[in-house]
Amino acid sequence: MTPAKMPAISLASVPEQFDGAVGFTVAGGSDWTGALAAMDAACDGAIRRTADAAGFDGSKGKTLLVLGAGAAAPARVVLTGLGADAPTALELNKAGASLMAEVATRGDASLTLVPHDGSAASAAALLEGAAMRAYRFDAYRTRLKDDQKQSVSTIVGACSDPASGADLLADVSSRVSGNFLARDLKHEPANILYPVAFAQRLKDELEPLGVEVTIIDEAQMEKEGWGALLGVGQGSVRDSAVVVMHWKGASGGVHDDPVCFVGKGVCFDTGGISIKPAGGMEDMKWDMGGAAAVSGLMKTLALRKAKANVVGLVGLVENMPDANAQRPGDIVTSLSGQTIQVLNTDAEGRLVLADVLWHAQEKYRPRFIVDLATLTGAMLVALGHEKAGVFSNDDELANQLFAASEATGEYVWRMPLGQEYNKSLDCKEADMRNIGGGRWGGSITAACFLERFIQKGQKWAHMDIAGVVWTDKPKPMVGTGATGFAVRSLDKLVQDHYEA
Ligand code: BES
Ligand code: MN
Ligand code: ZN
Repeated sequence: MTPAKMPAISLASVPEQFDGAVGFTVAGGSDWTGALAAMDAACDGAIRRTADAAGFDGSKGKTLLVLGAGAAAPARVVLTGLGADAPTALELNKAGASLMAEVATRGDASLTLVPHDGSAASAAALLEGAAMRAYRFDAYRTRLKDDQKQSVSTIVGACSDPASGADLLADVSSRVSGNFLARDLKHEPANILYPVAFAQRLKDELEPLGVEVTIIDEAQMEKEGWGALLGVGQGSVRDSAVVVMHWKGASGGVHDDPVCFVGKGVCFDTGGISIKPAGGMEDMKWDMGGAAAVSGLMKTLALRKAKANVVGLVGLVENMPDANAQRPGDIVTSLSGQTIQVLNTDAEGRLVLADVLWHAQEKYRPRFIVDLATLTGAMLVALGHEKAGVFSNDDELANQLFAASEATGEYVWRMPLGQEYNKSLDCKEADMRNIGGGRWGGSITAACFLERFIQKGQKWAHMDIAGVVWTDKPKPMVGTGATGFAVRSLDKLVQDHYEA
């Protein structure tokens, strides 16, 4: 397992002479100002002439690469438009990402980003987007040609008062590092990243940062009665594991009770005996996307020394068909004591989460629990690849998640729970069945199943991230591949509402 390299990021004053490539944001409908105007003047208006000829007018989302503007400019100058209105932080993130995408593989070792307003806050926001877009998972590409490799390894945000942005820069770096960890974990194939290897990776990553990492192994789970989770893993030669990551950053007082994040970590989901079709089954290596998000979040919180107590728990299993695998019709006893008839072994994520959610409540009495899971294909039918579904018994928590998602571009949309859906899980032979009666509303019945393991009064939200953990179509801050969805938005949730 070779982690993707994060580019070095820093803030600096606007230099006299630029090293490497330079990217500018351009406000639409107004004259060029600041460093861009100065550079354009020094090369006798060559940049402006190119922009005019190309029809680049600073409209939002438009990008232009200007090559060889003259001796007074670097060989590669990139412009990206912000439109006429003052940009939000997210728009600046996306602008930074577009600038990065233009030059990433063109041979420049560094990219300097210059915001139109010269502020450290804008420079930091550009850096965040650019660094996000600089993610590559090339660990297993041993024959890459130079022009296929990323050349930019240093990104500088140029501004008038770099010292004033030191805290912002540290937070940006923490968020991007956490996001990169989540993406690395999703990219790793299941022959490398099986449950115990995942657990070990978390120890290696997080213990040096001061996170307490505890592994609950199969023997302990058997003794304690984690029957729902163990049933899923029993067909695999790989042992299941639960990892508890505890960040104790609160300094006392009302913020001492922890908040909990729980992740589905199915390192590979064949479906088990209810086996999936072969086409596209390789996607199920990222069926641990919830666990990846929780892991990345814990890394971010630890790196920026968040003043909060946060427990991340991930249930790690492999769902395989085997002589020892769980059968359709099997009845298991969950950690909560409730029994479940497993009618479809491919509805395994909810079985894993049932036991982890129960453990989290019994042990930590959290202020809230948010679970994340690539839980249902039906989520893609409902919301496609653009937004994740949020199901919650608490309006305040749901609204906080929504606000954090809108601010970071990790979009969510609220979905319902309710007795009408929940009752389809009733069962004649056990306390419940693991699938609803028909195929409609499958994401909702899955959420209702989880709700049966939420204790009275416990604030809880479930995020079904099946559609957003991976993208084949380029997204602004991601490119293609694993997205690291929810690391940045959940960090914002904690930072905005749950820190002393
Ligand atoms: N991991 C899958 C959900 C999934 C499917 C995520 C496709 C992303 C893309 C989950 O374990 C699953 O198999 N769910 C079943 C549930 C069904 C058997 C009730 C599904 O969605 O088909
Ligand atoms: Mn499944
Ligand atoms: Zn699954």
